[in-house]
Amino acid sequence: MRKNAHPHSGRAFTDRRWIPPFFASLLVSVTLFLATSFGLFSSPHGKDPLSFDFISFARMEDTSEYFVESNLKRSFGRPRNSKMEAPRIAYLISGTKGDTRRMRRTLQAVYHPRNQYILHLDLEAPPRERIELTTTIKIDPTFRQVENVRVMAQSNLVTYRGPTMIASTLQAVAIMLKESIDWDWFINLSASDYPLVTQDDLLHVFTNLSRDLNFIEHTPIIGWKLNQRARPIIVDPGLYLSKKSNIFWTTQRRSLPTFFKLFTGSAWVMLSRSFLEYCIWGWDNLPRTLLMYYTNFVSSPEGYFHTVICNTEEFRNTAVSHDLHYIAWDNPPKQHPRSLTMKDLNGMVKSGAPFARKFAKDDPVLDKIDKELLGRPKDQFAPGAWCIGSSDGGSDPCSLRGNDSVFSPGVGAERLKELLQKLLSEDLYSKRCSFQASNSVNRSVH
Ligand SMILES: *[C@@H]1O[C@H](CO)[C@@H](O)[C@H](O)[C@H]1NC(C)=O
Ligand SMILES: *[C@@H]1O[C@H](CO)[C@@H](O)[C@H](O)[C@H]1NC(C)=O
Ligand SMILES: *[C@@H]1O[C@H](CO)[C@@H](O)[C@H](O)[C@H]1NC(C)=O
Ligand SMILES: *[C@@H]1O[C@H](CO)[C@@H](O)[C@H](O)[C@H]1NC(C)=O
Repeated sequence: MRKNAHPHSGRAFTDRRWIPPFFASLLVSVTLFLATSFGLFSSPHGKDPLSFDFISFARMEDTSEYFVESNLKRSFGRPRNSKMEAPRIAYLISGTKGDTRRMRRTLQAVYHPRNQYILHLDLEAPPRERIELTTTIKIDPTFRQVENVRVMAQSNLVTYRGPTMIASTLQAVAIMLKESIDWDWFINLSASDYPLVTQDDLLHVFTNLSRDLNFIEHTPIIGWKLNQRARPIIVDPGLYLSKKSNIFWTTQRRSLPTFFKLFTGSAWVMLSRSFLEYCIWGWDNLPRTLLMYYTNFVSSPEGYFHTVICNTEEFRNTAVSHDLHYIAWDNPPKQHPRSLTMKDLNGMVKSGAPFARKFAKDDPVLDKIDKELLGRPKDQFAPGAWCIGSSDGGSDPCSLRGNDSVFSPGVGAERLKELLQKLLSEDLYSKRCSFQASNSVNRSVH
């Protein structure tokens, strides 16, 4: 039988047949010896039967390669764009019934071929408006060529103070993560927002910035506010009804969270791609559990991202407390900000902010901004170095597209640069996500 199995083994080797069994038994004895000395077969009354587990566990911690989280964490620190190529921005522009024209105007004012755009008209808008919006995007020759403007076909029911707003924003981000691999920041605009600088200004100034920075105005919820904000439980019927109705409060109240600290701030954000991947892909459970927690929290868009970022070690230091918007409040502040008019123009310019809100439909100050700050001709894109066509006889120079990584920054870039220098100065840096008072929950106890 052996001869059949090894037809080529010659006579010379037959006298060494003892070798394989010898090594086999040697291997078995060595294994048994080692196993015994590591306590694998020790009796329950002998050595600690768990010691072998401890050894292997300790070894795993040493290398830490067995834990999937360490691989994921390593990918944060990596500079995404070491050659400092100009950034790309993903914009969400959302609107409701009657906003179609305003959304189109805001889109034209923030358009640049480098960027990505997604438009969301909520379920309150009639189908006719959605078709109208989709048609204006479809027939635009630039959008058709560059293919960077999308309309969300699925429209969500959105309650502005409820969790449905967050769900809608996260859906838009998820679509953009899937559809476009190269964008660096996400910006959230509504139809009543308007830019105060051109995209050439914005992209030029942000080229020098770390792609990990998140612009999110935030402050911890402390003191009496904590009881007032965190104890009530609300329900957003937008989650399960097909018609919009307002959020309602339950009679029950819940205890304050002890596993994380609560933060609040502006619902307008500019978030880094790495932070949003962390929120959407959810390899750490915190973004997911907080999303569930915020389902019953009033004004969740003013707290969800803020609480996630400030409770995550890897991202806490990337949060710059500013929403990049000029927003004017009444004195004393009311529920909604004041609509901006011509007399706010000076304040807007002085603030250095790249965006402002909110504007009434076709307010004359928008024409003034177009003319003086953006240089945007009516119904055309805000100009940039990518527009290389002729403007003779009122024709659109942007109908001929040039190199989209060349910019011609103007005075808007100077204003924005000044604002960013102020924001990134050291004393503000040290205040990121910090607690000023001590009567608050403390997550580091865990
Ligand atoms: C995003 O923008 C909208 C305006 O359309 C705003 O109401 C909302 O709260 C923003 N933030 C988030 C986190 O969804
Ligand atoms: C970017 O940084 C370089 C070198 O520090 C500097 O020369 C350049 O002016 C900066 N550009 C902007 C837009 O800030
Ligand atoms: C576009 O401009 C950039 C920066 O000036 C340059 O590096 C790149 O080669 C240009 N691309 C084309 C296609 O001309
Ligand atoms: C949180 O706990 C840490 C360590 O226990 C302590 O140093 C820190 O002061 C605490 N912070 C607050 C705000 O209580």
